[in-house]
Order: sequence, then structure tokens, then C-alpha cells
Amino acid sequence: MKLFRKKSVEELFKKSGDVQLKQTLGAFDLVLLGIGAIIGTGIFILPGTVAASHSGPAIVFSFIIAAIVCAFAGMCYSEFSSSVPVTGSAYTYGYIVFGELVAWIVGWALVLEYGLAVASVSTGWSSYLSALLEGFNITIPKAISGPFNPAEGTYINAPAIAIVLAIAFLLTRGIQGSAKLNKIMVFIKVGVILLFIVVGVFFVKPVNWQPFMPFGISGVMSGAALVFFAYLGFDAVSSAAEEVKNPQRNLPIGIIGSLVICTILYVVVSLVLTGIAPYTQLNVSDPVSFAMQIIHQDWIAGIISLGAVSGMMTVILVMLYGGTRLLYALGRDGLLPKSMCELNNKYKTPVKNTWTFAILTALCAGFIPLSRLAELVNMGTLIAFTIVSIGVIFLRKNKNIPSEGFKVPFFPALPILSFLLCIFLITQLSVFTWIACGVWFIFGLIIYFTYGRKHSLMNKE
Ligand code: ALA
Repeated sequence: MKLFRKKSVEELFKKSGDVQLKQTLGAFDLVLLGIGAIIGTGIFILPGTVAASHSGPAIVFSFIIAAIVCAFAGMCYSEFSSSVPVTGSAYTYGYIVFGELVAWIVGWALVLEYGLAVASVSTGWSSYLSALLEGFNITIPKAISGPFNPAEGTYINAPAIAIVLAIAFLLTRGIQGSAKLNKIMVFIKVGVILLFIVVGVFFVKPVNWQPFMPFGISGVMSGAALVFFAYLGFDAVSSAAEEVKNPQRNLPIGIIGSLVICTILYVVVSLVLTGIAPYTQLNVSDPVSFAMQIIHQDWIAGIISLGAVSGMMTVILVMLYGGTRLLYALGRDGLLPKSMCELNNKYKTPVKNTWTFAILTALCAGFIPLSRLAELVNMGTLIAFTIVSIGVIFLRKNKNIPSEGFKVPFFPALPILSFLLCIFLITQLSVFTWIACGVWFIFGLIIYFTYGRKHSLMNKE
């Protein structure tokens, strides 16, 4: 049936010369790209707020549970990206195993994930920047420092808009330059996190870990659904597929490697943080630097804020990158207008789609308060994870796909477990998120049935 027409593997590997991206990224670049996308708001805010309200010091378990869900899904992603190293991530994988309609739904979910992740992280970046500048006695005028809310005296979040547009400019100049900047930023943010651990560990008082699980197992579980946000981004590594050298080997290393490093950092930071201060005191917007102030290490608190600012910038960079490459894939397949996959002659990057995506997300970042919408980011991601997990089973059945790359261990138990865990986390999200997400998908289906279905490249085959 037309709605479920699938892409053939030959079709996927057939790339026309004029729309080919340059292959420049190696395994190490990918691990850094992953860490760049993953570590951001999550480590600088969630270990404090979620510990205070959901998990207590057992936030460590919440992080480990969320990491397990991500690692399972990450392995499924790795198998896909190593068998089918084509841009578009879960969207492309959906096209191969479930057909066009499911692929479109996954693609639409990912647009939501990447777009709102960029918007919400840039809003967080803007608050951290304000706090940092305050330290130097520079104040951003209130009217241009927050979302449209005349009652509060804020009209537009100018720093958030500025950072999205600045990073979009960088991306239009080519992924290699962006990867270089990403590398520097990743070293800075991992550096400040290590500084926090090394200094903080001397101030840990084990008595602060009592009681360890004040809100019980249910607190740990709901905490896991929240800190899931902290791991988002590793899937963006797979969107770089067409720009990777030796993707069969390098993509799995990039995905799993970045996940492992981030999990270790999250667990250690959470242990140190809840060891320095009682978890009840950590419900603040900057818990990590706040903890340093508690132990009178003010200059380290300042350095940590600086690290947070650069850390969030790389999250914006990689998420924006993922979003543009997704639109590129949708445009190339005819589900969105062709202008989405036009490459600039000089830089060989999709300049038009980068600006379209950046301007839309900048508008969200500039005018909408994103505190509640951030949950939508998790929803978009979990939908994609669910499809990828179950999709691996169908991928293995397809004998036309090269099979020498990475393989998910404990097949088929692991993909099935991954699928069930993702569904479980989806059930933990709020009713508001379900409704908002429903509206987004109805809108998406209208676009598909009025545009995509008629213009799909599959019509010509
Ligand atoms: N994982 C990303 C962050 O923590 C979204 O900011």
C-alpha cells in the first residue's frame, strides 16, 4: 500500500553527485560531537533540582536507569547507523523497515525534539549568561532578557535568539569548522566538570547521603524519566552518518563511547553534589556552582558558570546540526520542498534549510517560555527510540542490507526490552505533553497528506 511503501537499500546508497556531503569525521570527532550534544542543561541543573524534588541522593540510580534505557536504544541506533550510514537518523531507519508514513511520523517527532531542544537550551544559556555577566557588573536590560510576558516586564529573549542565529551562521560555513569549535567547547565543559569533582570530593560529608532514598523507588523512577533529558543528543551522532569516514566502525564507537563517558560524569557529579550539600537545599537554578558557593569556593563557582555557558552552546550546535540534516533528508525524499536539500556551492552545506530551521527555533526561544514545553523534547525522542528499537528486529530480517557492521548483543531480547522501557517512560510524561504532542502530530499528518504524499520521490519509482 502507498502509505507503507518502503525504501530499498539500493535506493538509499544511490547518491546523486550534486547532493553529496563531504566525509570528514572520524571516531574521536564523533565521540566529541556526542559529548557536545549530550552534556548541557542536564548536568548543570538536573542533579540538583531532581534530587531535591524526586530522588534525593538516589538520583544516582535515576541517572543509571536513564542511562540503561539510552544505552539499549543507543545499541539499536548503532546497528542501524552502521548498516545504513545515511543521514536522517531514525527517520531514514523508519523508511526502510516500516515505510513512508511511519518514517514521516518519526521525522516529525525528531523535528520537535531537535527544534525544542535548541530553543529550550538557548533559553537556559541566556539565563546563565545573564548570571555570569552580573558577576562582572554588566546587566542585560530586563525587557530583552526573557520570553514575551509584559506582566513581568520581559518582551523578547534577545540573547537566546542571538546565540541560535550565531551558531546557525557557523553551521552554514561547514561542519568541519563547527566540529573544531565543538572540540574546544567540549574540552572546556568536561574540564570544569572535572574541576568540580576534584575540588568537591574533599568537602563530601557522607551524612548528607542519609536518607539515601527519601522518596522511595517511585521517586527514583519519576526522577529517571526527568533526567532522561540529560542524555538526549547521542542520537544526533547518527545524523552525521554521511559525513563520517568508515561509518561501520566509527558510528557505534561515537554513540556508545559518548554515552559511557557522560554516564560516568553524571553519576560522579551527582554523588559529589549530594555529598556536599543536603539534597533539600539543591532546588536552585544553578546547583553545581551553588554547591561551590556553599563550601566558599566562589572563584570555582564562577568558572563553573563559564563552563555551563560553553557547555550549553555545544548542545545548541549539535541539536541544530541534527535538525538541519533531518530537514535535508526530508527534502531529498520529497516529503518537504526541495529547497530543504539544496546545498550551497561554496560551503557544501544546506544553507537555506539551516536558516529556516534556525529562524523558527530562534522565534520559539525568543518569545515562548519553554519550561513546560521542554517535556515535549523527551516525548519526541522517546517516540523515535521506540521505533528504532523495534525496527532492529525487522532490519535483521532484511537480507539485502549489508550485515558486517555492529550488531546488538542479546538479540532479540535487548531490542524488545529497549522498546518496553521507552514505552514505560512515555507513560511517565504529563497529560499536557500528551495533548501538545497530539496537536503537533495532527499538524504533521496534514502536511503529509496535502504535500508529502504527492511529492514523495517514491512516486517516481
Ligand atoms: N542532553 C542535553 C542537555 O542536557 C539536552 O542539555
